[in-house]
Amino acid sequence: MDKRREKLATTAMVNWVAVLGLSLLSIQAPAQSTDQLEKPALITGQLEKGTPQDAARELVEKLGYAQSAPCKLVFLRDENPDLAFGEFFRAECGEKELFLKFSDKPIAQSFLPTMAFLESEPELSASILQPLAEFSFKRKGGKQDAEEYCSAYPWVAGDTLEALLDKVDDPEQEAEYLTGVYRQLGKLLAEMHGAGLVNADKPLAEWKSHLVQRDLHSRNLKITPDKRIVILDIDSFASQREPAPVQKTFVLDVVRLVFAGGKKEEPIFEDLPSAQPWMAVLPGVAEAMVTSYCQTLVGEDKAVACVSQVANLVHHLLWKLHKREYVDFEEGEEGEEGEEDEEDEEDEEDEEDTMSSGDEEGTGSSVSDEEMTRRLGVVLGPLR
Ligand SMILES: Nc1ncnc2c1ncn2[C@@H]1O[C@H](COP(=O)(O)OP(=O)(O)O)[C@@H](O)[C@H]1O
Ligand SMILES: [Mg+2]
Repeated sequence: MDKRREKLATTAMVNWVAVLGLSLLSIQAPAQSTDQLEKPALITGQLEKGTPQDAARELVEKLGYAQSAPCKLVFLRDENPDLAFGEFFRAECGEKELFLKFSDKPIAQSFLPTMAFLESEPELSASILQPLAEFSFKRKGGKQDAEEYCSAYPWVAGDTLEALLDKVDDPEQEAEYLTGVYRQLGKLLAEMHGAGLVNADKPLAEWKSHLVQRDLHSRNLKITPDKRIVILDIDSFASQREPAPVQKTFVLDVVRLVFAGGKKEEPIFEDLPSAQPWMAVLPGVAEAMVTSYCQTLVGEDKAVACVSQVANLVHHLLWKLHKREYVDFEEGEEGEEGEEDEEDEEDEEDEEDTMSSGDEEGTGSSVSDEEMTRRLGVVLGPLR
């Protein structure tokens, strides 16, 4: 975990040091009271500058990062075309690096209740990216009273899961490594869901948690050089609204992260020679992720039933995707075995909660129903 983050998150004493530091820098620090000292620290304030670049620089300065030497500000779209869709920056300040992003909502403020759940979970805390600061900002030329926000996070080094998968030339060679990553991922998601559980007395299908990332795809995860997994993108955590169902979300996570998460082809659906080597590793990867999730969440004794339930739901969903049906995780899917009505497909617009296979990135060469049945049997059969 970033040293600065650790310092900010641990003790009340450190909060006071931060307050002192902030007042010296004459920043508008959050109002402090005894009550607030127990809450996680998030530095807030206002920026004067009107462009993202200038505002990002101003924020870094106000946070005191530019004190010993000026920080270099890198517009991430300049070094990574995958990030051209947003205004993301890295501030390089000597040894310390920050990630900065802009939003029209105070996403970091909204994340504070979630951070409170993480306070007593130091290990888990290190695996979920948390904000350091969020300042409001008025864009030059923007709508008159429209407030935007610039938030700052510790920089997480390493590849996103998407970038990592893109680099794999020979999946079979990497089978052990990939299986290990997904095993770790299953465990992490179970620890995260488990730490925010609200109704564990009910059957698993009804469990809900405050610690649920509802938009977990391969660009919202990083694998660090020391092989830790870090979950990014606090915008999509559930507790801003209300606790979210864990099983349903995990099923979607498995589908996105194992089967349909990359920007390239999605091997399980594709009738291509390049799909074959991936088909060889998918059973192990799926087994690792689902088994470690269930073992961690419900314990060894109940894991078999959990694995089978999840595998059935994943199977159901992959079949729908193969048939190019839209899948809506917010509305339908309340049934135990995913037996929802098939009627109101295709009219859901919310991209976050819908997905389809083959439409955008696919090559058009989908496998036949028979081949899909065979592949699903190979990958999920042993788990069901
Ligand atoms: N703390 C971080 N350190 C390094 N890179 C990051 C960090 N947070 C996000 N990224 C990179 O920026 C991308 C977009 O960030 P994200 O928070 O997911 O924004 P969005 O809400 O637009 O999806 C991620 O896919 C990842 O590549
Ligand atoms: Mg994201």
